[in-house]
Amino acid sequence: MKVHVIGGGPAGLYFAILMKKAWPQTRITVFERNKPDDTFGFGVVFSDQTLAGFESYDLETYRQIVGHFAYWDDIEIHFRGSTFRIGGNGFCGTSRTMLLKILGRRAHSLGIELKYGSEADPERATTRGADLVVASDGINSRTREAFKDKFNPTTELRPNYFCWMGSDRPMDAFNFFFKETSHGIFIAHCYQYQPGRSTWVMETDPETFGRAGLDTLDEAASAQFLEGVFAEELLGHKLITNRSLWRNFPTIRCEKWTAENVVLIGDAKATAHFSIGSGTKLAMEDAIALYEAFRFTGGRDVKPALARFESARREEVEKTQHSADVSLVWFEHVRRFWDMDPTRFAFGLMTRSKAITYDNLALRAPEFVKLTDKVVARDTQALGFEVDTANPAAPMFQPFRLRDMTLANRVVVSPMCQYSAKDDGIPNDWHMVHYGSRAIGGAGLMFTEMTDVAKDARISPGCTGIYDDTQEAGWKRIVDFVHANSGTKFCLQLGHAGRKGSTRLMWDGIDEPLPDGNWPIVAASPLPYYPHSQVPRAMTPADMDATIADYVQAVQRADRAGFDMVELHAAHGYLLASFISPLTNKRTDEYGGALENRLRFPLEVFRAMRKTWPADKPMSVRISATDWQDGGLTGDDAVAVARDFAEAGCDLIDVSTGQTTPDAEPIYGRMYQTPFSDQIKNDAGLATMCVGAITSADQVNTIIAAGRADLVALARPHLVDPSFTMKAAAWYGAEDIACPKQYRAGKDQLFRNSEREREDLTELRLKAKPKTHATTWKQAAE
Ligand SMILES: Cc1cc2nc3c(=O)[nH]c(=O)nc-3n(C[C@H](O)[C@H](O)[C@H](O)COP(=O)(O)OP(=O)(O)OC[C@H]3O[C@@H](n4cnc5c(N)ncnc54)[C@H](O)[C@@H]3O)c2cc1C
Ligand SMILES: Cc1cc2nc3c(=O)[nH]c(=O)nc-3n(C[C@H](O)[C@H](O)[C@H](O)COP(=O)(O)O)c2cc1C
Repeated sequence: MKVHVIGGGPAGLYFAILMKKAWPQTRITVFERNKPDDTFGFGVVFSDQTLAGFESYDLETYRQIVGHFAYWDDIEIHFRGSTFRIGGNGFCGTSRTMLLKILGRRAHSLGIELKYGSEADPERATTRGADLVVASDGINSRTREAFKDKFNPTTELRPNYFCWMGSDRPMDAFNFFFKETSHGIFIAHCYQYQPGRSTWVMETDPETFGRAGLDTLDEAASAQFLEGVFAEELLGHKLITNRSLWRNFPTIRCEKWTAENVVLIGDAKATAHFSIGSGTKLAMEDAIALYEAFRFTGGRDVKPALARFESARREEVEKTQHSADVSLVWFEHVRRFWDMDPTRFAFGLMTRSKAITYDNLALRAPEFVKLTDKVVARDTQALGFEVDTANPAAPMFQPFRLRDMTLANRVVVSPMCQYSAKDDGIPNDWHMVHYGSRAIGGAGLMFTEMTDVAKDARISPGCTGIYDDTQEAGWKRIVDFVHANSGTKFCLQLGHAGRKGSTRLMWDGIDEPLPDGNWPIVAASPLPYYPHSQVPRAMTPADMDATIADYVQAVQRADRAGFDMVELHAAHGYLLASFISPLTNKRTDEYGGALENRLRFPLEVFRAMRKTWPADKPMSVRISATDWQDGGLTGDDAVAVARDFAEAGCDLIDVSTGQTTPDAEPIYGRMYQTPFSDQIKNDAGLATMCVGAITSADQVNTIIAAGRADLVALARPHLVDPSFTMKAAAWYGAEDIACPKQYRAGKDQLFRNSEREREDLTELRLKAKPKTHATTWKQAAE
């Protein structure tokens, strides 16, 4: 087989090495436009895990690599006068030049033809008789462009500016330096890659970039400017430049990575922001994956191998790109966290991309997590609570207060329709058992399902209501049980289904119209949810008055039933959400148009409720922070919406998303809605509750400690595990959790077992200390 590799970077060279080793008869030529000694960039980094992979693929290069790499374990975060040193991160660095030399020498020794100083024309390369063309020609890939109709690439230019520089300042940790100047904030991501040499990736937002006049400075002047910004951190050392031009990071994605006998690998195919580690790692892992695809398919035929590469590698690359996106967004919004306590800021930085969590960090850097726990406890103490700050409970077990309502912990049972009332809307024995058991499970707060303010306001015939005396009495029976047998506070979620009303029970077809027995529905505008749904009537001023009156009477009943809190449901495309979203509100009166107008009716409802609801009891509003659709609500809109509700007396913003239209394209993933809560909490300074794909106590602790939300709601996990909070309390040793006397023997056993499990796990982890693949800087110096 004849293979042409375009680009002798890490991806191309490593692939050539692996192929040639496995199939020595393969004729491989690498075309590299640079000379062997030309190289841009400074250091590259690999984790221990990546090095372990290299060890198993090519021992020769692995030995060379670890021989020239040095290792560090710690990350140092320097923020507003505080420094945090966080261990257990296991990374190695070397210079890019050294890595390319190692790979080049190895390729040469295996008989691979290396044509340096040779610019390949991608279109000709494919026709020059090669059976396989590997396009590893980097971020500005000419091959990707030449065949763009086949690869369908997209490039998203991020707003922040960055440039790669170096320095001769030694350092024994990965350093993040955050500096505020009169122009704005500058960030330096730094690590040593050889004795006396460190990489400095500089980053700043576009406004700061403009104010500092960096667009008018050349490379040397930029370096001089940054030497001023980071004078303290450079410790008298200079910055070194090497094609150190300011750029916007391009996130590149391709719909297809292969076209006939051409395959894109490395940066040519997909990029991941530098803040989650080296692009070099991804590039070399692509090389491994492509080689593996040939091995899997027998190494002879190109087509099946490329198909295998495309299918086997894509998920991993997309996952990495997603983590990188989350990470880069954190750096883009660093201003949002600027006033945070430095410890919680550092915790937020460490856990920004979801790969590292509270539990994970507690194993790597127990002292730092203990410090974070203490700071969270101190912040709780500042709210007026008597909490143990010397031996604090885990963040999720810190109390919280909304008006006069105190919550024992930060876990919330999210509202969940049970579709189990008869046509009368009365909560029955199902609801008693459902809510009763979840309250006994120990969550600090529990929401009812969306409970409707009028018969025609229901989603389905199975929905509960609170518009007559029997329903009120039904709810009171459950509220009394919850209060008598648990420490859980109980919030009634009040709603009106709007255009999503008169639909089937969830298990018969969610949002689908009833086959018969439909009732009339109203909305902001006469737009059906599905084309085949009932067309709602646009609300008239008289309808609005009547609906406000319904909400007010529901609130009066809620108070009489003994609820601790009420929530206004203004999310998920229901009546009030249909006013807020521009996708569903097409009105031309004062209730349509600008956001201020679209919010008018929901705010009128909220104010009327707030006036009626006792002043010492809190209220929340659930919003859809984004519609996940072009032309719909965005996170920035959600901040404005949240501010307006807060001004009207809302104590907590319950941050959900979507479900406005069936055409939305949500991006799901672990904790996928939490960034919106983070934005509202930290941009608007409001108390928030997040929800959505949060499944573990570890995630709850991560969110609370990083200050991304004040409360964390879980819906589906509570359906299968009413005792989620009790189990978490046992795991983290939070003894104070409320438990009815009938169940105490169970609680005691659970706590004892959890303690034993924790001890066993610690012992196991201590025994299984992972192998370190390179020497530390200290060892290297010796
Ligand atoms: C200015 C800059 C500095 C960087 N510094 C660092 C750093 O310090 N540390 C780090 O970890 N990462 C750094 N990176 C990112 C890192 O280089 C990449 O993520 C990684 O090298 C990707 O490997 P690759 O093999 O896919 O592409 P590359 O390493 O970019 O290799 C592509 C190669 O293809 C060659 N090429 C392109 N077109 C042709 C053609 N038509 N014919 C022949 N040859 C061609 C190029 O000369 C290049 O050598 C830097 C990136 C840039 C742009
Ligand atoms: C069965 C079910 C019923 C739901 N009913 C409601 C509801 O009545 N009101 C509401 O605001 N959200 C409702 N939701 C949404 C949840 O409160 C929550 O926002 C969503 O399920 C995401 O959280 P999760 O990933 O923890 O399940 C419901 C979800 C489920 C699974």
